[in-house]
Amino acid sequence: MIKVRDLKKSFYNQTVLDGLDLDIEEGKITVIIGKSGAGKSVLLKNIIGLLKPDSGSIMFYDKDITKVSYEELKKIRLNFGVLFQDAALFDSYNVFNNVAFPLIERKIVKSRKQAEKIVKETLKLVELEGIENKMPSELSGGMKKRVGLARAIVTKPKIIFFDEPTTGLDPITSMSIACLIKDMQTKLKTTCFIISHDLALTFKIADNIGFLHNGKIIEFGDKNTIINSQNPIVREFLESYFAGEKND
Ligand SMILES: Nc1ncnc2c1ncn2[C@@H]1O[C@H](COP(=O)(O)OP(=O)(O)O)[C@@H](O)[C@H]1O
Ligand SMILES: [Mg+2]
Repeated sequence: MIKVRDLKKSFYNQTVLDGLDLDIEEGKITVIIGKSGAGKSVLLKNIIGLLKPDSGSIMFYDKDITKVSYEELKKIRLNFGVLFQDAALFDSYNVFNNVAFPLIERKIVKSRKQAEKIVKETLKLVELEGIENKMPSELSGGMKKRVGLARAIVTKPKIIFFDEPTTGLDPITSMSIACLIKDMQTKLKTTCFIISHDLALTFKIADNIGFLHNGKIIEFGDKNTIINSQNPIVREFLESYFAGEKND
């Protein structure tokens, strides 16, 4: 669905992405892992067109996201759902208005009644029925993530981008969010692109895993490919994870 080729992005004299290649397969869950500061968020922002790369191409089907006009980019973005790290709910809007926002902004619904029906169905998918009138301040961290997820899927995007979907959540809530993403992906057949440093989530739900280091994807494949990687950087990352698991 998306092919990234030779992507380069620097800030001042700091090179963050240095000739990165990546394929995002349609209907699959692709997770990008790597150390904090490796450039995972920068990669995601380039793909959704929030940052402009210095060079390289990002093909969404037959269109290069880095070369299209702003009008065309806006059209392409209608296929995208995004869930940012902090869920980014509007604090002064209740859950209904938060989830309905993209439906109204993109003029997908014709009436309040239609919006209510879609929001209700979407909240059911994230296992949060009947909380339309609650305010974000009344919700737990896990519930906020679910509302954010509901808002990301409400327009039925072709692909959903997640930046650290489980950061700040306890391990049990993290696992329930991971399972929810997997269930939703199975039900809706949505392509998912996730960046994460959470290996438990990654190994639980990823079809494809890419390891980002020094501006490139240095290892790519399924769980077994990553676990059996002989790359010393990948091994070091895995060993610190498995050591942490033993200490729990
Ligand atoms: N808008 C920006 N301006 C300058 N530097 C940035 C910007 N965004 C990210 N960076 C730098 O790029 C590097 C990668 O950041 P990021 O993609 O957020 O890492 P990760 O998500 O892997 O933790 C960091 O060193 C960060 O300081
Ligand atoms: Mg990040």
